[in-house]
Amino acid sequence: RHLAPFLCLADFEAAARRRLPRQIYGYYAGAAETCQSFQANAASFRSYELVPRVLADVSARSARTTLFGTTYDAPFGIAPMGLSGLATFEGELVLARAATQAGIPAIVSATSLMPLERVATQGGARWFQAYLPGEDARIEAMVDRVEAAGYDTFVLTADVPVPANRENNVRTGFSIPLQPSLRLLWDGLSRPHWLGATWLATFLRHGVPHFENMDAFRGPPILSRHVVRAIGARDQLSWRHLELIRRRWPGRLILKGVLSAEDAVQAREHGADGVIVSNHGGRQLDGARPALAALPAIAEVAGPMRVMVDGGIRRGSDVLKALALGAHFVFVGRPFLFAAAARGQDGVRHAIRLLLAEIERDMALLGVTRIEALTRAHVERAPWAA
Ligand code: FNR
Repeated sequence: RHLAPFLCLADFEAAARRRLPRQIYGYYAGAAETCQSFQANAASFRSYELVPRVLADVSARSARTTLFGTTYDAPFGIAPMGLSGLATFEGELVLARAATQAGIPAIVSATSLMPLERVATQGGARWFQAYLPGEDARIEAMVDRVEAAGYDTFVLTADVPVPANRENNVRTGFSIPLQPSLRLLWDGLSRPHWLGATWLATFLRHGVPHFENMDAFRGPPILSRHVVRAIGARDQLSWRHLELIRRRWPGRLILKGVLSAEDAVQAREHGADGVIVSNHGGRQLDGARPALAALPAIAEVAGPMRVMVDGGIRRGSDVLKALALGAHFVFVGRPFLFAAAARGQDGVRHAIRLLLAEIERDMALLGVTRIEALTRAHVERAPWAA
């Protein structure tokens, strides 16, 4: 019954906002500068219209999707999100468990507060997302750590050479490292549920949260100034490093944050097995195009690579549009974090169920029975957008 108010993914945000301290809600919900790219993500889905086919006998339909030899129960997964552990107690495990129960992948973030080895004990898909400095020795050590933990898919996020300009974080008083302040204290005290069930529970169980996955060893606590040094020189990362990872990493290698067809070709030539077309949820370069706009040209040059996409996907119809435009799979970020903040693991399970139900219903309404049957013929650019 506590899930009854949530009818679609968008419904979780208001509940999360009530539960979370302003600083943390602002960090999750926010984007860079003017939010042009963030808003363009949502607008890009509205700029395509579906072309339903009728009388197609859609009685036997399934949204199951095979990606890299694994069959998932839905064509979407949970995008990597840093600091998920501040949404709810052991948020990283909550997301991983909910995804595993639902038969979809969740990508563990480099800036999560739970060791990647611990998340791996949840079973399910084993996808790790790394932020790497342009330093060979540190890259090799990180690749080795991820492999030793049993992961099979390594996602390198490439659109964060420098931290983005997110002014709303400055305004609310959120920073990395977290700066203890009276404002933060007051905000915590005015959200007693979060303070007790998330922050205190975490502290009692694990102590001060650390960045656990930025390097081959445990990183610094989230309150420490050493965080900045631990991140290292990401602005020196180059295609040469992707090649280095390719030589050392035996599993699947995915490049995340690609928006140009030329870069997709480079990724392919440097040995990537896939790309995630993404503008990082509008959180990095403000003004960067939405993933959906970049998708068709990238799908065309991808060759054997799998093409995935994220950013602004909120409805089953959005998922179908992305798949029809050439994506093999999609990822969804913020709504699952809000669901975790609002109702914990049950909330995330419910959010996954809602999105899957929308996809299955829309497949019937569109006249398709299998995900692979979606083609360019199922979408048209809206006349006003063309
Ligand atoms: C992110 N994202 C992200 N991406 C990444 O590669 N590593 C990370 O650690 C993070 N951290 C992160 C934190 C938070 C709070 C958010 C909202 C996002 C980006 C994420 O993987 C994804 O690209 C976008 O969130 C997708 O957009 P939507 O679905 O949130 O609109």
